[in-house]
Amino acid sequence: MKTFPMEPIEKASIGELRALQLERLKWSLKHAYENVAHYRKKFDAAGVKPGDLKALEDLEKFPFTAKGDLRETYPFGMFAVPMDQVVRLHASSGTTGKPTVVGYTAKDIDTWTHCMARSIRAAGARPGDKVHVAYGYGLFTGGLGAHYGSERLGLVTIPLSGGMTERQVQLITDFKPEIIMVTPSYMLAIADEMEKQGIDPKSGSLRIGIFGAEPWTNELRKQIEERLSLDAIDIYGLSEVMGPGVAQECIETKDGLTIWEDHFYPEIIDPVSGQVLPEGAQGELVFTSLTKEALPVIRYRTRDLTRLLPGTARTMRRMEKITGRSDDMMIIRGVNVFPTQIEELILKQPELSPHYVLELTKDGPMDHMTVLVEIQPGSQDRGSAERLAHNIKSYVGVTADVKIVPISTIERSIGKAKRVIDKRKA
Ligand code: DLL
Repeated sequence: MKTFPMEPIEKASIGELRALQLERLKWSLKHAYENVAHYRKKFDAAGVKPGDLKALEDLEKFPFTAKGDLRETYPFGMFAVPMDQVVRLHASSGTTGKPTVVGYTAKDIDTWTHCMARSIRAAGARPGDKVHVAYGYGLFTGGLGAHYGSERLGLVTIPLSGGMTERQVQLITDFKPEIIMVTPSYMLAIADEMEKQGIDPKSGSLRIGIFGAEPWTNELRKQIEERLSLDAIDIYGLSEVMGPGVAQECIETKDGLTIWEDHFYPEIIDPVSGQVLPEGAQGELVFTSLTKEALPVIRYRTRDLTRLLPGTARTMRRMEKITGRSDDMMIIRGVNVFPTQIEELILKQPELSPHYVLELTKDGPMDHMTVLVEIQPGSQDRGSAERLAHNIKSYVGVTADVKIVPISTIERSIGKAKRVIDKRKA
């Protein structure tokens, strides 16, 4: 069987990798400082100069960047190159106010394409595979990122984008792609549609699913793998840092996501104090770009919570599957709760489906959570709500109301699922 070769850097020694990172980090700090007034101001205020970085650990001395910095300088204030060097813009829709705008030079697009090709290969692609891309095309980075990477590998790239679910199913049936790239929640909607059309999702051509853009648990992985008879592999990224392809799970280990550290330098910090945490500790993921030209990001706070782990399938470090974003964390009567914790418990009950939302309301001065979850088609509700409420109380430590709702009540996403409906402010 023909396979794609690995790049030398993926197997380089840790020493070689760190040396490359240090050289690139020096360039990136200098590039940001010299070409972006906003970075210059922040570095000066913190009393640091790019030349103060002598070792990778010195990065700690530099100030963080956050979404607020991009908002403050909206739309192009953080760009480090003149506009005649920028060949692409993307934007991520903020939940409030203005979107975050990101820009790419031709070389940035090439780097991104390269990282995506590497990701798709690490997920198990083989020459001749057909790739069904159901991530949204447009300002969202998912569709075009996947598209360019798949083409770079020389794979047959099928640009569906999200939506028109019946047609997704028809083209999966007719074109017989081996790989699908889509959010895990939209994969579920596509599988539901297959069943509606009388097609057994297991019987299809799909061998690999490359799923990301939203948190999903290992329980959901198991369920998708069984239901569709494929390998479900995790892909991570964010617009500010590049788009998809910042980190990718390798099919041979499926043990968290390898960070493409030759382009993105990771740190884990305490989200409250900002202190860098030792390797293995859980905290907020922070990235510094090492090669980006148009929009260098220095210590960008992702708000994603995870841990760094040593490399396994590659030299580069891994990040554990993401627990959630600090923004998605709910505080119910003083207890921190993430939607993924509830998902894990829902999927431990085989009669419950992965279609759920969490509704937050006020119960007097107290916050109250209601879990709305659909039953699996063909399954019976036998005390399911009581059992789930009991498990949420014992494993998560909060009291929740659980309502089992009829099939198709929960809104299906064609991209990122909305898991929390916050009715408290109304
Ligand atoms: O979601 C980029 C992407 C597209 C990644 C397609 C993977 C596949 P944004 O819209 O800027 O970019 O959203 C980034 O999505 O900070 C995480 O909170 C979340 N996210 C992305 N991938 C994962 C993942 C794209 N594998 C935000 N697991 C990030 C959990 C993820 N959360």
